[in-house]
Amino acid sequence: MPLQTWFPEALAGDLVVLRRHAPENLEAFRRWYGDPEVARLTRYQDGPMRADEIDRFFTARVIGLDSLALAVHVKETNRLIGSCAFSQLDGDNGSGLFHITIGEKDCWGQGYGTEATRLMLDHAFGALGLHRVSLTVFAFNERAIRSYRKVGFTVEGHAREAIFREGQYWDEIAMSILEPEWRAIRERRGPIELPTAEPAIEPTTAAPGRRPARARRAVDTSIRATGT
Ligand SMILES: CC(C)(COP(=O)(O)OP(=O)(O)OC[C@H]1O[C@@H](n2cnc3c(N)ncnc32)[C@H](O)[C@@H]1OP(=O)(O)O)[C@@H](O)C(=O)NCCC(=O)NCCS
Repeated sequence: MPLQTWFPEALAGDLVVLRRHAPENLEAFRRWYGDPEVARLTRYQDGPMRADEIDRFFTARVIGLDSLALAVHVKETNRLIGSCAFSQLDGDNGSGLFHITIGEKDCWGQGYGTEATRLMLDHAFGALGLHRVSLTVFAFNERAIRSYRKVGFTVEGHAREAIFREGQYWDEIAMSILEPEWRAIRERRGPIELPTAEPAIEPTTAAPGRRPARARRAVDTSIRATGT
């Protein structure tokens, strides 16, 4: 059984490795979030982020210990291609909000983001002991919706016409996955083996049937994040 931690140094899959962000990743963030096409898929505001907004976002939500953000690297080359994170980690209710951006556009549609999402869910349910992971996605983002469905997210509602983009209103779709749903999917793929994690903070041994108390401890001690 691999060692699991609340905030691992790395989570390894077949295609990608998720690693702690390094300060020098800011340069890539400036490129990704300054790109109108990435902004269209990821931002409520119409248009890319300003440089100072990106810098603040990176400092507050990406690099700090108060956020569970991991960089997405291609396993074979170690190329940095994106970022994924949990925010609004709520230990009392065992829930968190998932975010992902593969910022390198030539890496879209190659399964990297889908595998990164799977690794994050394994971590959320397997190591953090969460009960529910949710996200929101714009209705026009078909690739993201397909990716989320593939890993087991279910549509639970629509905020009707919440986004105005390219001259028309679009729904914002709320999706979620619950721990028993994740467990059933994982068990269909064979015995549950969590991704190999390199310890960083508070090592603890993975075990089935984690309870919210465990998530509460995780959140309260090291990884509370605010906002989206
Ligand atoms: C959304 C994202 C995480 C998906 O990860 P990914 O690794 O690119 O996704 P995949 O390659 O596994 O593709 C997912 C599905 O979308 C399909 N797809 C690929 N490109 C597509 C497109 N342009 N339109 C519709 N579907 C598309 C794929 O065929 C696949 O479906 P299938 O397995 O049924 O064939 C990633 O593309 C990304 O970060 N995009 C930019 C930012 C973004 O949209 N973030 C999410 C905000 S909520």
